[in-house]
Amino acid sequence: MLSRRTWLAGAAGVLAAPSALAQQAPLPPLKSLAPWPLGTCVQTPQLNDPQWVQLATTHFNRLTPEFEMKMEVVLQADGSLRFERPDSLVAFAKAHGMAVHGHCLIWYAEDGGRFRDLSGDAFLNAYVDYIQKVMGRYAGFIKTWDVVNEPVTDEGSTLRDCLWSQKLGEDYIGLAFTAAHQADPHAILLMNEYNLEYTPKKRATLLRAAERALKNGAPLHGIGTQTHIGGDVPPGAIRAAIRDITSLGLKVHVSEVDITLHEDRPVNAVEPRIDQLRVLDEIIDAYHEVPAAQRVGLTFWGVRDSDSWQNSGPHPRPIFDEPLLFDRFGRPKPLARELAKTLRA
Ligand code: XIL
Repeated sequence: MLSRRTWLAGAAGVLAAPSALAQQAPLPPLKSLAPWPLGTCVQTPQLNDPQWVQLATTHFNRLTPEFEMKMEVVLQADGSLRFERPDSLVAFAKAHGMAVHGHCLIWYAEDGGRFRDLSGDAFLNAYVDYIQKVMGRYAGFIKTWDVVNEPVTDEGSTLRDCLWSQKLGEDYIGLAFTAAHQADPHAILLMNEYNLEYTPKKRATLLRAAERALKNGAPLHGIGTQTHIGGDVPPGAIRAAIRDITSLGLKVHVSEVDITLHEDRPVNAVEPRIDQLRVLDEIIDAYHEVPAAQRVGLTFWGVRDSDSWQNSGPHPRPIFDEPLLFDRFGRPKPLARELAKTLRA
């Protein structure tokens, strides 16, 4: 690790230590180094931010709408659907030769008021209709979708009790995948979940649910492991999660990576964060071990630290966290250089 003094001296040209020079070499486009799609999430205001546009289009080749393809934006109180915001994200992606990962159709956290008033066949019809209209709009362009998001409880031993399970039973999962497959038979359909590395019990429950759905004929192709993670994650836990998914023959999307510090440090300190680098290395190494046909890609949950949901949204953290590859001034951090190094290796 570089000491602050060495780095400062190198930056001032006083001491031309090779490692200090390497720190300042231009960062190659990360997407050119990755043998799988490399993504970031996006929100529409970022499309008007030249620095964001420059970083995102240089380093990433796929976008996941951070929330603007979710029910909270798409489904209106009267049951109609609005697509202005997801459409503008898709138009941007097309204009820049990027792919879009669809996120997400059915999520316990969003159950649009309109659904609450329905039951029986009317509920099922509205459920299928919602999935098919949203997916159908982008059929042929969006090739990968999170069909069901976060179905397992935090404790990990059961599926969540949510509007969807109350109205349709646990088969709401299988029904969603079947509806999605009808909307676009070529799309890769995923179930997306968090804490799969921290909570092996949760992982087992999720994988059992996937196997059950498959046994019942649901066209489920893979699992998104969100990987919102901290330096405290036990070594080997990320690899174990990725391996478990892979060993079932399912595809794997490492879908929402951020590596939080949860510590109060000076903003933009220049030293690499050893624990962050270790965690990133494990993610990349483990993903390299996945057979190519099972890799859906790797997505960071934002570009700059200032873009991170860890620092914004309804419940900002008391400190400024630094979970992403670029600092809030758009400069590549040691984490970005580590990613380039690991991808090259
Ligand atoms: C988060 C977004 O980052 C926030 O901007 C939004 O307000 C709430 O949702 N798991 C998911 C993502 O699947 O959709 C969540 O995104 C983060 C956790």
